[in-house]
Amino acid sequence: MTRARSSMTSPSSTPEEDFIFPTGGALGAEVRGVDLSQPLSESEVATIRRALLDHFVLLFPGQRITDEELVRFTSYFGRPVEHVRQQRDRPVKEIFFISNVRENGELIGALGNEEVSFHSDLSYLPQPGTLSLLYAVEVPSSGGDTHWCNCCAAYEALGAAAKDELKGLRALHRHYVDSQNPLEPVTHPVVCTHPDSGRRALYVGPHLTKSIVGMPSTDSDALLQRLYDHLSQPRFIWTHSWCLGDLIMWDNRPTMHRRDAFPDTERRVMKRTQVFNDEVPFE
Ligand code: OGA
Ligand code: MN
Repeated sequence: MTRARSSMTSPSSTPEEDFIFPTGGALGAEVRGVDLSQPLSESEVATIRRALLDHFVLLFPGQRITDEELVRFTSYFGRPVEHVRQQRDRPVKEIFFISNVRENGELIGALGNEEVSFHSDLSYLPQPGTLSLLYAVEVPSSGGDTHWCNCCAAYEALGAAAKDELKGLRALHRHYVDSQNPLEPVTHPVVCTHPDSGRRALYVGPHLTKSIVGMPSTDSDALLQRLYDHLSQPRFIWTHSWCLGDLIMWDNRPTMHRRDAFPDTERRVMKRTQVFNDEVPFE
């Protein structure tokens, strides 16, 4: 089924069905036969953009790319930016490391080896990024799977009364490392509309969402827990076990993701880029 690259670079068109293969799960598709070490044609980029709008998460398996090639691929979808968190020794500033590896006693990346609960990247910022890309450079032999949740499907599956209850609500988002947060508290609508598709999605997750604005804390905790229980149903989730060379890009607006723990005796090294476009989430 995989087509040779040359047949996809024809200027006329890049038929999506020839190289986008939906996972068959709650979201996500695999993109086969694309070599990201090479520049992509406009038609390929347009097809990938379309596929991202449809599937929210795209897996490009078997890549072998340099840092510069990762940044070039990222730039097809918006402005790659330096991650807000500082990391030492980053030769290519747009690339942020997610890793448990220590060099001279210091972690070379973020998140260590522990479980990370559901979140949308950078939601603790007033203008969170839109897309994230993660490229697997070293993977553990077990654990470290990443799970994506289809937050559009989860919103759409709510009953009319539950949707009504969420109308106009905002939630406070905050990074667990105090110094990462802007001075002013950051709030976003509990339900956000995707600017390109117009689809609504739940935009709360246990890792970064703290409370519902203006609600007594017991009610806020109960509502958030109810939403988390709803979101984490298997019917909304797609899970990926990483192989070396996998690159996954995802749209943070209609999705959340979480990661399983893995043994700290093993190495996991992932290179992350993120795209910004000054967008403020809206209901
Ligand atoms: C991230 C993230 C999960 C993982 O890069 O934002 O949550 O599987 N990564 O490393
Ligand atoms: Mn993340």
